[in-house]
Amino acid sequence: MTEPRCPLPIPFGWFALARSADLAPGQVETVQAFDTEIVLWRSEAGQARAFDPICRHLGAHLGGGKVTGERLECPFHNWRYDADGSVGEIPYAANVPIAARRPGCVKTWPLTEANNLIYVWRHPAGAEPLWAVEDFLPGGAAAWTLASQHDWTVGVHMQEITENGVDYPHFLFVHGVKSTPIPQWKIEGIRRHSVAKAAMETPRGLVEGQIEGNHIGPGQSAIRFTGISDVLLINSLTPIAREQTRARFDFYYPAHLDEGAAKGARAVARNVAFQFDQDKPIWEAKRYLKRPILCEADGPILAYRAQYAQYYVGGGEAVAAE
Ligand code: FES
Ligand SMILES: [Fe+2]
Repeated sequence: MTEPRCPLPIPFGWFALARSADLAPGQVETVQAFDTEIVLWRSEAGQARAFDPICRHLGAHLGGGKVTGERLECPFHNWRYDADGSVGEIPYAANVPIAARRPGCVKTWPLTEANNLIYVWRHPAGAEPLWAVEDFLPGGAAAWTLASQHDWTVGVHMQEITENGVDYPHFLFVHGVKSTPIPQWKIEGIRRHSVAKAAMETPRGLVEGQIEGNHIGPGQSAIRFTGISDVLLINSLTPIAREQTRARFDFYYPAHLDEGAAKGARAVARNVAFQFDQDKPIWEAKRYLKRPILCEADGPILAYRAQYAQYYVGGGEAVAAE
């Protein structure tokens, strides 16, 4: 068996499993995440739920089921599950067995919707959510217009992707920027906040710009680009498996922008998404070095890793042995 390129486990936290608009009332979808399968379904009244896929009766896959009102119906013998994972009804029997009446008969995952995304909480020891999902759209979703959406599946551990943001010199060599952005950082608990001032070349000459990043836990980031334009990137990483990551970039601009400014916002979005394309082949071939040799002009790689270690039970060190 080949050695993993990064020996870290899958972190815990809130992760976006789908976009809210991709799960209509009555819809059932199976998604791959956390090295397993999760069935997402939305009740007819509009509540989204996340279930383990296997029906506790005779093992059919609930991803092939259908929504009936507020219940999810198994495709095999039509047992109907309530929101709490208990069986509420068996259409061909008068009584539901006691074991099937218990909440969590089929495991349910904590789920919340925000930022037009469906987030699920994952913890390997089954701990309840340790923090709340961050709302990234100031003034509410109606104050923002979607500029574009981009999706990637990347063959790398997700910790390696966000390490990019604190790896300043790679911007010179992979992304071809003229000077390295040196942001100011603040790390506090599960939050990482950064502000970088950057002079950007535009057809109007040099424009003072600012890039402000808010990172909450391992799965939620929002980056606001102001100055040259006004763009908000909601950047969601989700572990499909230990070394396979789903990245979703949703770019927004303020709904009040005129068409000229909106065009500028869409151009910024394209440019940022292109940077991800530039990074991807490097990530997919690199190795995670527990003790990298760093120079004084490198970014705060080790501070970033030390903060990230809190998203692993036991700090991740035991599994990240060299
Ligand atoms: S296997 Fe699901 S109802 Fe029988
Ligand atoms: Fe990069």
